[in-house]
This record gives sequence, C-alpha cells and structure tokens, in this order.
Amino acid sequence: MAQQWTPDGWRQRTALQMPDYADAGALDGVLDKLHSFPPLVFAGEVNALRRRLAQVSEGNGFLLQGGDCAESFAEFHPDNIRDTFRVLMQMAVILTFGGAVPVVKVGRMAGQFAKPRSSPTEVIDGVELPIYRGDIVNGIEFEDATRQPDPNRLLTAYSQAAATLNLLRAFAQGGYADLYKIHRWNLDFVEGTETAARYRELCGRITEALEFMEACGIDGDSVPAMRQTDFYTSHEALLLNYEEAMTRQDTITRVGGWYDTSAHMVWIGDRTRQVDGAHVEYCRGINNPLGLKAGPTTERDDLLRLIDILNPGNEAGRLTIICRMGDDQVTEKLPPLIRAVEGEGHKVVWSCDPMHGNTIKSSTGYKTRPFDRILAEVRGFFAVHQSEGSHPGGVHVEMTGQDVTECLGGAQLINEEQLASRYHTHCDPRLNASQSLELSFLIAEMLKQQRPARQLAQAVQAAQ
Ligand code: PEP
Ligand code: CO
Repeated sequence: MAQQWTPDGWRQRTALQMPDYADAGALDGVLDKLHSFPPLVFAGEVNALRRRLAQVSEGNGFLLQGGDCAESFAEFHPDNIRDTFRVLMQMAVILTFGGAVPVVKVGRMAGQFAKPRSSPTEVIDGVELPIYRGDIVNGIEFEDATRQPDPNRLLTAYSQAAATLNLLRAFAQGGYADLYKIHRWNLDFVEGTETAARYRELCGRITEALEFMEACGIDGDSVPAMRQTDFYTSHEALLLNYEEAMTRQDTITRVGGWYDTSAHMVWIGDRTRQVDGAHVEYCRGINNPLGLKAGPTTERDDLLRLIDILNPGNEAGRLTIICRMGDDQVTEKLPPLIRAVEGEGHKVVWSCDPMHGNTIKSSTGYKTRPFDRILAEVRGFFAVHQSEGSHPGGVHVEMTGQDVTECLGGAQLINEEQLASRYHTHCDPRLNASQSLELSFLIAEMLKQQRPARQLAQAVQAAQ
C-alpha cells in the first residue's frame, strides 16, 4: 500500500536545486496568495492528455514536446508566443502527414521558468553571486540585488503563465490552427531554404487531400479537428514551493485526487530524480502525466524503482521517460534501460531529448549544440527502438519561433562566428524555426519507415 501523500510532504525530504529566500515570511505570504489564485489548467484537460499519452505508449501516436529552455520575463510578448506556437504546429503537421501518426502537442511554455544549475554560485572577476535560476527565482544580470531570490517573481511568473496559456488556448481553439489555412502560416526567415520548399510542397499535398475529402462530404464542419487542435503545456517541476501552491483537488468532483494545476504535464529533471528526494515525493502524488529525464548516469535499478514509485498502478499515459543520453552514448546506454522497463511490462512513453546530452562550448565562448549531433541522437534513438522492438514515442526539444543563432549548423549553416549575432536564450541554446522543421522532416521519415512494424504490433495487441 502506497504511503500517504500530502502536497507539502516533499518538505520532509532533501530538495535539491531550491533557492535560499532571505525573507521566509515574504515567501510564505506570496505562496498563500498563489494558493488562493485560480488554477491554470483543470483536471478534465489533464486527464485528456493522459489518455492521449496512453495511446502513444501503445504505439499509436507521437509526442511532440517543445519550447524555450527557460521562458523569460523580458521576452514575454504575444508575437513570441505566436511564433513558437506556429513552429510547433508546423512541426506537428510534418509529423502527422509525413509520419502518418497522430501527434500529441505539448509546449514547454506557460510556466517553464525554473532552471536546475550545476553550481549554486557564479564567480566573475573575483565577485561571487548566487547563480541565475530562472526568472521565477532571480534575474539574469550579474548584480547583487538582481541575483537575490525574490518571492514576488513567483507572482509575475504566475500571471505570465496565465496570459500565455490564454493566448495558446485562443490560437489552438480559435482558428489559428485551421488546417485549411496552413499555407498562411508564414515561413519568414525559413524562406528560400530547401526546408521551406519541402514544407510548401507538403502543404500543397495536404490541401489536395482536404479538397478530396471535402468533395466526399468530410470537412471542417463535420470534423472539428481540422479547424482546431488540442495543445497542452508543461514544465519542469523544479520549484516545489510554486508547484505545491498550485496543487488542488479536482474542483469538479472533489473525489478524484490531487492535480498540479500549474501545467498539464510536469517532468522531473536529470538533477532532481533521486529516488528518496523531494521532487519524486511531490510528483508521485499528483494525477498529471509525468515526464522523467533519463541520462547516461541513470542506473537500470534506479529507473525501475522510480517507475514503481511514480506509476505503481502501471497506468498507460502516466509516465514518459525522456531520454537525454548524448549522440555518443545513446546506442550503448539506452538498450539496457528499454530491456529492463519493457521486460517488466511497464507501460511508458519513450521520448528523445536530443538537446541536453549534446551541449558544448564553442571556441567563441558560447554554450551551443551542433545540429548534426542532435540529428544523430534522434537517429540513434530510433535505431535502438527498432532493434528492441519498442515504440519511439516522442521528441522533446528546446526551440523557438525566433530567428536565433544558438545551435550550430542546419540548412542555414550557422557557424561559430555567427552564434554571436542572435544569441538570445536565457539558458540553453535552442533550435530556430528552420532547424526545427528540418528535424521534423527527419523524424517523419523515420516514423514512416517503421510504420509497418507499428501496425503489426497494434494488430498483435488487438488480437490478444
Ligand atoms: C531541461 O530540460 O531544461 C533540463 C535542464 O534538462 P535535464 O534535466 O535533462 O538536464
Ligand atoms: Co535546457
């Protein structure tokens, strides 16, 4: 029988990566306020996402999860939200049509503020200050006052998340995601590249298919999914004070247990996945679908224990293992984990984060990621699943709709000197729109290739 759980039970455990607030009274005041604020998502939506992810875990679908490494207060602007949403929709169209799978769309948006760091402080020119932990905690400028954790930032983060989510819902449900208008989602700076040409060709084929279906009597009025989409939000459940304050019982039925109402899905990061740690303790008690990062240091037995704690009922859709091995380690480190998890009959979604294991420092001093290595890890991930007979169920990327130069390579051939020209991230380097679409075409091809195996597996499952 599972131990009793309360939203504040994590406080009895060791919580890594939490900021030290100088004024505990001020923090408590803010948390009380947050606790009284409206939920950002509601239980019905969270449950719907879990059902969609359950289908993915059964091989019928693909999880597309993406957005900023760290959302910032400075970059909060409707155009930025629109541009990232648009690129995610374009990626989803490429995957759905090219890969012939239903795509579950989840943004790293509307709450992805807190960052785990490798050191609690930073020293520049002999001055030591607290490390930047994301705009929800402190400011990025290297100044004493800005770097002190400020509880009021929690309130700013909440209101930014609420406004972002409001706009995302409007885009998803209010006509922006209309498949009949995909030609009008502009490609801006992708223009002129081979990727843009491929995308346009794909739009042409989709439009033809829609016209054919319309002639057969199937259109946007009979099938609403053609005019609107379901879009979900997610972030790392790192700042447990915030997550606890947003934790509510299902407000409709009041019998369905606890939900973290700050996002539809939350994940446990690679630095805070200790079996007996506070983050695992908090996450085990909420009903939201959970992500769990698995890196090259993830031990097989620890992973199995974590799965037992986080998904004791072996419920499909509850748990997504987000693998971030690095292109050089994926082939060696991933198969034993898949064998162990599948061997014990655990139902999980396997997703690939090709970003966090492939971060390097450029000779010009920028934290960057070579696009080729990102592609290589995704290829490796698919190859391993193919040989293990498991379903490569998703991808988790840091990307933006802005024309940034943060990752090396891609069709625009961004080189080390060019990184400086538009390097805007508040934390890790993101794919720009062109690189995001290119990656999606590659994944769509691989999904298409393994389609017969997927269909066979589903037929076998149906027959059982
Ligand atoms: C992240 O997803 O931004 C992150 C910090 O990843 P990881 O925990 O895998 O390092
Ligand atoms: Co990151």
